[in-house]
Amino acid sequence: MGGSDGLGQAGSVREWLRSLEVFAGPLADFDPAGAPAEPVDLFLGWLREAVEAGVPDPHAMTLSTVGADGGPDARVLILKNVDAGGWQFAVHAGSPKGRQLADVPRAALTFYWPLQGRQVRVRGAVEPASPEQSAADLLARAPSARAEALLGRQSGHLESLDDRDRAFRTALARIEADPALVSPEWTLYTLVPVQIEFWQADKDRVHTRLRYERSGRRGPWETHMLWP
Ligand SMILES: Cc1cc2nc3c(=O)[nH]c(=O)nc-3n(C[C@H](O)[C@H](O)[C@H](O)COP(=O)(O)O)c2cc1C
Repeated sequence: MGGSDGLGQAGSVREWLRSLEVFAGPLADFDPAGAPAEPVDLFLGWLREAVEAGVPDPHAMTLSTVGADGGPDARVLILKNVDAGGWQFAVHAGSPKGRQLADVPRAALTFYWPLQGRQVRVRGAVEPASPEQSAADLLARAPSARAEALLGRQSGHLESLDDRDRAFRTALARIEADPALVSPEWTLYTLVPVQIEFWQADKDRVHTRLRYERSGRRGPWETHMLWP
């Protein structure tokens, strides 16, 4: 950074950031009056449109959790499935997020599809799947992903890349020797939503927002539009 792009001078990062475009689009439309009764139907419609438009990693989402210190923590994960039961993702139980979800089984998910200018926010309680379902999720993945799950120690301090690569090779050899081997700590979770917000950007900042809300996990959905 620096030189001709002006990033070397005090205060210029602010200017640079302000010069970057947001909601370049082409943006999508959203009419809350036509929203379906079930939020999962609207979510799948928006996800399909993102996929068809070529949004990269459209099934990537930010998972926010509550840390042991009471503070928030967040990272990007891949969405595994979504249906009327909720939004599914998988974590290593020994990872920071795995421990956080075991301590405080509540979370939020955030999706952003920039080509459409759409954000979806999902909040609720999380529930672990059975060991059999979690194992099936892992077995469906590539050997390298299963080897990574076997490593454990995720987010622990690493002394050298050689240590990582050696452990990875050992884990991969174990998988190749025993194709049914799965990490027992791999855990599929379902986030059962109580709030799902659909946010549609507008170039003039007159954004449209619709939130589905319910008080219990099986209650009927209410919808409310929100001020932008
Ligand atoms: C696009 C993308 C997809 C990812 N998918 C997963 C995933 O499905 N599961 C996972 O455990 N980590 C995934 N990660 C890595 C996590 O963001 C994170 O670095 C890791 O899980 C450690 O998080 P923790 O320290 O909060 O436990 C993904 C990262 C990116 C950028």
